[in-house]
Amino acid sequence: MRVGIGILGGGTVGGSLANQLLREAGAISAKSGIDVELVAVGVRDLAKKRDFPAGYATDDLEGVVDDDRVDLVVELMGGIDPARSLLKRALEAGKPVVTANKELMANHGEELIELAAGRGVSLLFEAAVGGAIPIIRPLSESLAGERIDRVIGIVNGTTNYILTAMEDEGRAYADVLAEAQALGFAEADPTADVAGHDSAAKAAILAGLAFGVWVSVADVHTEGIHGIDEVAIEMANSLGYSVKLLAIADGGERGHVARVHPCLIPMGHQLSSVRGSSNAVFLEGPNLGQLLFSGPGAGGQPTATAVLGDVITASRELLAGSQVTPRIRYSAASPRSFDDVENQWYLRLIVADFPGVLAQVAGAFGAADVSIKSVWQEGRGGTVTLVIITHPAQEKAQRSALEKLSALDAVDQVAAIIRVLDEE
Ligand code: NAP
Ligand code: HSE
Repeated sequence: MRVGIGILGGGTVGGSLANQLLREAGAISAKSGIDVELVAVGVRDLAKKRDFPAGYATDDLEGVVDDDRVDLVVELMGGIDPARSLLKRALEAGKPVVTANKELMANHGEELIELAAGRGVSLLFEAAVGGAIPIIRPLSESLAGERIDRVIGIVNGTTNYILTAMEDEGRAYADVLAEAQALGFAEADPTADVAGHDSAAKAAILAGLAFGVWVSVADVHTEGIHGIDEVAIEMANSLGYSVKLLAIADGGERGHVARVHPCLIPMGHQLSSVRGSSNAVFLEGPNLGQLLFSGPGAGGQPTATAVLGDVITASRELLAGSQVTPRIRYSAASPRSFDDVENQWYLRLIVADFPGVLAQVAGAFGAADVSIKSVWQEGRGGTVTLVIITHPAQEKAQRSALEKLSALDAVDQVAAIIRVLDEE
């Protein structure tokens, strides 16, 4: 049975999807009985050279949605508008939608899911988190009966690619970012990757599905990798840690809390072996224990594979002709404040080298009720480097210690602060 596919966006992922649809149509038909047929690919600039047959390209995106030959709309443009209005138009017309747009789903997912539910059609977004890794479907279907307590993920391929190249090859940040862009991992504006916003959108989506509550991106505490330089990576490695940008979401009776920030991970930890543009997501629940999903997290072809899986599922549901019920219903819930989250902090300080400085530094932590776990000092005379790892303490206490430290004359500079993934 035939299903006509209209793609909005013919860039890295849209172009790969167009080619996969053309190349794999026979195999898909043999396996699923569905004849997927590419109808059109909406783009902005018709003059641009495409890596799919140019005859499919059009700059009339509303025309793609409205085309009678298009039964299912795939959105691979990115950004909020006009993606949002085009998807609403498709859903209102009763056409199922597949999207890889985490920014859109994290900010307007609830509205779009409600609209799809009202029309009884599918809205699938597997590729919005983790590239080729199946994680949305396991969370919303296979694990729908489990109470998920915690999600920890490396969910941005660009930053993981950068941090891995800095660690393995000692390369400079800007140089590796340019390479990640050329490989098609980065967002149109790569600030979304390096400042942590892309991971924050994914954290909100994962937390929402895991805990069954609508998680606002604005409530996700977000820090990027700007502060991570070659020295930070070298020192972390010498202490037995890798640096990763993590998305962490905790559920529980006190309310959910989601955050994105760089983290030191002990080198033996499974997440430290997630290299390059790969992603990984850890889930923890009372019955399942721990579950790890990992694999290619970005790039045209891996991501298009996840999109194609959704296209086949949505096609099946369309051809079945029944009303599709939403895979998730969000309840309203208040988030817990990030201030109350307990973390271990790693601090690299540049301090004056005279008797009593260590006692002053220790006093600042003590006065804020933060206990020190370990201390390293390097250098002699003038200023020296002091590295401190604390025991877990609430963020507000850690920040209070930081204020007291910064006020000390003996502290020349707080050169780096990185959180440490729970070791205790
Ligand atoms: P991209 O290479 O920048 O492609 C975007 C496409 O959309 C281009 O073809 C562009 O047209 C078209 N487009 C954008 N705005 C438009 C507008 N206003 N009107 C008409 N056409 C417009 O982006 P991408 O990397 O493929 O990413 C697409 C989506 O997938 C994003 O939501 C992204 O977050 C998500 N995603 C990407 C990856 C990845 O690894 N790249 C992985 C997972 C999810 P022109 O070609 O004419 O400029
Ligand atoms: N820019 C994103 C990343 C694409 O680097 O992970 C995949 O969502």
